Amino acid sequence: MTTHALRDQTVAEIAIRLAGATSVFRRREIDVCDCADVPLAEAAAAQGLDIAELEAALAALGDAPSGAPQDTPGLVHHILTRFHDTHRRELPELAELARRVEAAHPEHPLAPRGLADLLQRALVELGDHMAKEEQVLFPAMQAGYRGSLEMPIRVMRHEHEAHADLLRALEHLTRGFAAPEDACPSWRALYVGAQKFAADLAEHLNLENNVLFPRFERRRS
Ligand SMILES: [Fe+2]
Ligand SMILES: [Fe+2]
Repeated sequence: MTTHALRDQTVAEIAIRLAGATSVFRRREIDVCDCADVPLAEAAAAQGLDIAELEAALAALGDAPSGAPQDTPGLVHHILTRFHDTHRRELPELAELARRVEAAHPEHPLAPRGLADLLQRALVELGDHMAKEEQVLFPAMQAGYRGSLEMPIRVMRHEHEAHADLLRALEHLTRGFAAPEDACPSWRALYVGAQKFAADLAEHLNLENNVLFPRFERRRS
């Protein structure tokens, strides 16, 4: 992907091909779903952003593709290994770290009170959700099932909306993942980890909502 070509590509095309782009968009309040079919230049103008700066931020992510394969069995495998496994590996540690940071700074006005509970909730809700995808929906997709998957997909999409709410709450609680000047290393590490989790989850949701699921749905209104 070359820099000069970025402004003419749609937000969804870039989000799907360029790893980490969802995080660049999210920080600039460009909604990947709302702006899916909008060229980058237009999406930037609508937010009053400098297109050259935005292109540079995206180009800085590197030219490497996100690594998401195009074929459905490969894509499902990628989602499982790159996102499901990663969330399961990282979330318990993040929740535990948040618990320690909250306990260590009970009087600090900027302490992320409630973050540990939020991450624990994410762990439980995502765990249930991913188990449903892994046990029912994804095996059917990988096997090339052509019957109706509309109903389970609708349930998954509905749960994704709750995950998006969770992301917003996470960003709000951490004040955009910005640790205060006097934050200790654990606190800083917590926010770095939380931001990485948020970027991963946003990309995970994007791949399922905008790439995988539409392959098994009739045209949605
Ligand atoms: Fe998933
Ligand atoms: Fe999902």
